[in-house]
Amino acid sequence: MQTLQVELGERSYPIYIGANLLVQPALFSRHIAGKQVAIVSNETVAPLYLESVKQALAGFDVTTVILPDGEAFKGWETLQLIFDGLLTARHERSTTVIALGGGVIGDMAGFAAACYQRGVDFIQVPTTLLSQVDSSVGGKTGINHPLGKNMVGAFYQPNAVLIDTSTLNTLPARELSAGLAEVIKYGLICDEPFLTWLEANVDALRKLDQAALTEAIARSCAAKAKVVGADERESGVRATLNLGHTFGHAIETHMGYGVWLHGEAVAAGTVMALEMSCRLGWITAAERDRGIRLFIRAGLPVIPPEEMTAEDFLTHMAVDKKVLGGRLRLVLLRQMGEAVVTGDLPREILDATLVADYRAMVEHLED
Ligand code: NAD
Ligand code: GLY
Repeated sequence: MQTLQVELGERSYPIYIGANLLVQPALFSRHIAGKQVAIVSNETVAPLYLESVKQALAGFDVTTVILPDGEAFKGWETLQLIFDGLLTARHERSTTVIALGGGVIGDMAGFAAACYQRGVDFIQVPTTLLSQVDSSVGGKTGINHPLGKNMVGAFYQPNAVLIDTSTLNTLPARELSAGLAEVIKYGLICDEPFLTWLEANVDALRKLDQAALTEAIARSCAAKAKVVGADERESGVRATLNLGHTFGHAIETHMGYGVWLHGEAVAAGTVMALEMSCRLGWITAAERDRGIRLFIRAGLPVIPPEEMTAEDFLTHMAVDKKVLGGRLRLVLLRQMGEAVVTGDLPREILDATLVADYRAMVEHLED
């Protein structure tokens, strides 16, 4: 097992990474202060892993809350089901909420923990690659609004993150690829040698090679922990973790939550960010194509939905959380491995990016 640390003063916490961690009682109990525990999971993950977690929590007073599965359920009505479960079983302020599932469960259970009796302890047990490399670390919690993705939420750090890499054995291939989008992101924004490593290991990752997965997860979590430690509430460098997300969130919102997976929308959105960085003269066309090739090899879409117009993108992007004083800001690449957040966006370059011929770009790659 590897242990990393998110350094946030008195709110610091460990990230445990390894195989079969779910069945290790001590990893849970050392982070649980009271007697009561509420495990929040969903209809897909609970049949796979709930019993193991319950066994690891033998001796605690355990309540389970099983939610419907899907991004489309990441809203107020589903959040209310968590509060219903906690109140019905009379959970007190000393309770601990455990999020067992992917990013949707982690974001919702974390937000519920932030709100319940004004804040109770919580532990993240992420079971998708995406949640293991990104959403379970850093304390962003929340739900979607019909008008914008993740628009309602709180910064609320977990007490621990327990990443059991064995859970990836049951993850559908499409979901694994979606997680790879966020892994590739770290290479693009802050670790160019990691991109080279990913180019050599992407096939092994897709075949669930445990050593490769552990390396990719640990490297991603280390990158995220460093950024979060430096800028917990996103007043600066943390925004770079949103490379491709402004375009990507527009795709998710426009297409309907869950139609494009979050990681898929991030992949296509990142290709748009690469294209814009290229048009600004910051990266070369060959570097843009290097990124596109890696996303394709990871099994990800790289062409934005053809039915989305430039106007559609601009409408959704106007409610992005990085908008400041009504001005859109984007994360772009100054060079491969170095991201910047900028509001200095020449309109003609943004417009050209929104209408660029991504299909031709990909066909050109195959020449
Ligand atoms: P998800 O939570 O919807 O999980 C994907 C699917 O895999 C679901 O059907 C789920 O039930 C299933 N699943 C989960 N673990 C499984 C397993 N081990 N075996 C089989 N099936 C399993 O999606 P996700 O990609 O994990 O997370 C996406 C969400 O995370 C989005 O809502 C996104 O906004 C959010 N997110 C948050 C942050 C953050 O910093 N908080 C960062 C990135 C993404
Ligand atoms: N996923 C982006 C962040 O945590 O800031």
